[in-house]
Amino acid sequence: MAEWDILTKDDIKRIQESYGKIEGRHQETGDYLYRHLFECCPDVADIFKVDMKEQSMTLMRMVKTVVEGLNNVDIIMPGIQKMGQRHNDIGITPAQYGYFKESLLYALGKVLGKDFTPEIKESWSKFYDVLSGLMKGN
Ligand code: HEM
Repeated sequence: MAEWDILTKDDIKRIQESYGKIEGRHQETGDYLYRHLFECCPDVADIFKVDMKEQSMTLMRMVKTVVEGLNNVDIIMPGIQKMGQRHNDIGITPAQYGYFKESLLYALGKVLGKDFTPEIKESWSKFYDVLSGLMKGN
């Protein structure tokens, strides 16, 4: 899929290597993300009907699938489209996707610490832009 072409080989390497450092820390990473999201937009908390500890793990498993799929994006596209459809059905807005991005970058920064360099942050930012764009259908 051409959308992924904005990620260079170096971006993919940075994303996969830094992901490797958080792979064993899914719970913590997801928890930081949702805590940040609900602090900035308390109303968003109401749309989740699930246990948020479990949701952290569900989200991070999806992140893992996409990160590992970057070498062969055709395999992950059906799953991304399905997830995008589900989010459209729930009524997630573009603004909420924006807050989610900030929350993801915040969580990665908390867990990776000084290893979350500006270059790595930029690669994850591009990663999120492509992923969320595909989910939104643009
Ligand atoms: C790239 C961004 C995102 C990813 C990878 C992602 C991932 C996921 C996954 C894997 C699920 C579970 C799938 C399922 O239940 O079928 C889910 C559910 C959900 N997501 Fe997202 N999501 C993203 C963005 C967002 C945003 C921006 C919001 C709102 C601010 C959001 C709100 C929800 C809600 C409300 C659910 C349903 C939870 C429930 O069943 O109650 N997601 N998301």
